[in-house]
Amino acid sequence: MSIIIAPSILAADFANIERDVDMINKSYADWFHIDIMDGVFVPNISFGMPVLKAIQKHAKKPLDVHLMIIDPDRYVETFSDLGAEILTIHFEACNNLHRSLQKIKSCGMKAGVALNPHTPVEFLNSIIQDIDLVCLMSVNPGFGGQSFIENTYKKVEELKMLIQKKGLNCLIEIDGGVSDQNAAKLITSGVDVLVAGSYVFKAIDPQSNIKFLKQIQL
Ligand code: DX5
Ligand code: ZN
Repeated sequence: MSIIIAPSILAADFANIERDVDMINKSYADWFHIDIMDGVFVPNISFGMPVLKAIQKHAKKPLDVHLMIIDPDRYVETFSDLGAEILTIHFEACNNLHRSLQKIKSCGMKAGVALNPHTPVEFLNSIIQDIDLVCLMSVNPGFGGQSFIENTYKKVEELKMLIQKKGLNCLIEIDGGVSDQNAAKLITSGVDVLVAGSYVFKAIDPQSNIKFLKQIQL
């Protein structure tokens, strides 16, 4: 399977959101990565339902929604109605993770779990079989444009081993500071999905940066 590229809309130009969504539609990207922040779980507020609705209206590729909010169960149906195909919640934000994942799946979405940089992969030992995608945060969540944390490679390898040991199909996604400087090494380590915000949207030619990530040969 070739690598899945998910540009993060957080770095798009919100005054020209239709233009930027259309650029992704026409590019080699596979998914739209959508960051929802509540100002409590992370020290920033991104955008909410009306903006997601506007994105969804123009998007022709799956919406990969990353919730950085506490108690995400409250909004699972809402994000399903808004067209999310994958809904990722944070390990650190859930008291009953198993129940939350079942709720996401019962709404017809794929269920993702994100781990902050300080959360060990082994914490997923007892739940990995119920997860469709693990998002390893390679920055502290809350902002785009931060530097990639090098310890992520080790976590990717540990997670890959866990998934293979149990014979599962769970995808590994990396979110934060992804660029041409680390993409090849991440793919070699076992990553399936690369999220990229600044590397795509702050580029002079965003489509060629997307193409570069998509066509990395190992
Ligand atoms: C950070 C978000 C990321 C962010 C990535 O909390 O989850 O998706 O938009 O942006 P870059 O690629 O600029 O680090
Ligand atoms: Zn994200």
